[in-house]
Amino acid sequence: MTEYLWVSNEMKTVHSLCRVDSSIQGAASVTREIADEVEKAWLARLPGAGVVRRDLTQSPVSPAMWTDALMGRRAETPTPAQQAAVALATELGDEVLAADALLVCAPLYNWGVSGHVKCWIDMLWTDPRFAPRTYPLAGRPIVLVVARGGGASPGAPQEGWDHSVPYLVRMFGDEIFGGDVTVIETELTLADRSPAMAHLRDRAADLRARNHELAAATGAALGERFATD
Ligand SMILES: Cc1cc2nc3c(=O)[nH]c(=O)nc-3n(C[C@H](O)[C@H](O)[C@H](O)COP(=O)(O)O)c2cc1C
Repeated sequence: MTEYLWVSNEMKTVHSLCRVDSSIQGAASVTREIADEVEKAWLARLPGAGVVRRDLTQSPVSPAMWTDALMGRRAETPTPAQQAAVALATELGDEVLAADALLVCAPLYNWGVSGHVKCWIDMLWTDPRFAPRTYPLAGRPIVLVVARGGGASPGAPQEGWDHSVPYLVRMFGDEIFGGDVTVIETELTLADRSPAMAHLRDRAADLRARNHELAAATGAALGERFATD
C-alpha cells in the first residue's frame, strides 16, 4: 500500500521500507551494521521516504503467541490471548504488506534461522493474506542481510552448515512469499575475536568491506527503483 502526500499542489508518493532486525548482539551486530548501509543509501536516494522498523529482540514474537494466533484463527470463541495474538499477526502482516521493500536482518545462530525470525515468519503464515500459493510479496524487493561467525561457503570445513539462508530464500522468494530477493551474506565475523581464526582475519575484513559496498549499492538501486514515482 502506498501513501501519498500533497506537496505544492503536486501529489508525491511516499515510499516505505520495512526493516526487521533480529540480532541479539546490539551495537556489535554485523547484520545491523550492513543493514544501516542499505537504509542510508535508500534514504539518500529517496529523501522523505519512510522506514518502518521492527526489532524482534525488543518486541519478540514467542512460540506461544504463534500457537495462539494459529488456534485463534480457527477457534469459534478465541480466548483473550488468542485475540491478542491474532491482532499482533495482523499488525505484522500489515507492516510487511504496506512496505514497498523489505530489509530483513537474519544472523546465523546455532547453524539455523534465529528463533526470533522463525516465529515472526510463522506469525505471518497465520494471516490468510500469506496463505500458501497467494505469493503476497510478488515482485517486491526483499534484501536479506545475513551474517555468520564462521565459514560455510564452498570450500570451508563447514560448507553447507548454514541452514538459515536456504530457508529464508525459499520463504521470501518465488516459491512462497514471491519476493524479489537479494542476499547480502557476510561470514567469518568472529575472526577478529577468535584466536583459532586469526589466519582468516584479512579475508574477513575484505568480505566485510565488499559487503558494505554491496549494501550501499543495493540500497541506492532500491531507492532508484522507486525514485521516479
Ligand atoms: C548464540 C550464538 C550462536 C551462534 N551460532 C553460530 C553458528 O552456529 N555458526 C556460526 O558460524 N556462527 C555462529 N554465531 C556467530 C554469529 O553468526 C555472528 O556473530 C554473526 O555476526 C551474527 O550476526 P549479528 O552480528 O548481526 O548478530 C553465533 C553467535 C551467537 C551469539
